[in-house]
Amino acid sequence: MTECQSEPPVGCTARRLWLRKVVGIAIIGLSDPSAAEEPSPSTLPPQPGDQLTVSGERSLIPADVMLNAPPLLVYPRDPLSGVVRDGSRLNQILLIKLDIKTLDDTTRVRAAEGIVAYSGICTHAACAVSEWKGETRHLLCPCHNSEYDVSGHANVVAGPAPRPLPALPLSIAGQYLIVQGAFTAKVGLKKL
Ligand code: FES
Repeated sequence: MTECQSEPPVGCTARRLWLRKVVGIAIIGLSDPSAAEEPSPSTLPPQPGDQLTVSGERSLIPADVMLNAPPLLVYPRDPLSGVVRDGSRLNQILLIKLDIKTLDDTTRVRAAEGIVAYSGICTHAACAVSEWKGETRHLLCPCHNSEYDVSGHANVVAGPAPRPLPALPLSIAGQYLIVQGAFTAKVGLKKL
């Protein structure tokens, strides 16, 4: 006879209660599909139709983005629920407005009234792309000095970044800037 088959000492009782609890949790997990973790709306990547916001108070219109000004750091915002998708740093978006004549063909079709949007996460080691060189229209990642050409689909022009910043196609609906489609490539780290 094992130690827990006879009148149980306290240790055995505790072990049985623990076992029942674990089995119960496992059964609930198996029988209730809704128990599986669903991603929060605030962590979902930008969705087509999302608007864009700086602080969450309101959505941006094209006039909010100044020509040749440093990038605006924005997040997607669900226009129906008002949820701002700022639960993941991978959703950081840089908005820049340039003279449409300076954009290459690839960049122009993704732009709305000269406004372009790129991931704010460096493709080298996922630092924040936080600096702006207005004279060349380059975004700069200060971690290892990768530079991206905003007019030329964020192509890498300096530094160790292995690929361009993913772009986020934009359009305008009503008066608002909206997300036209998903990021053109995986955000952050990715092998070529
Ligand atoms: S993380 Fe941006 S250059 Fe290295």
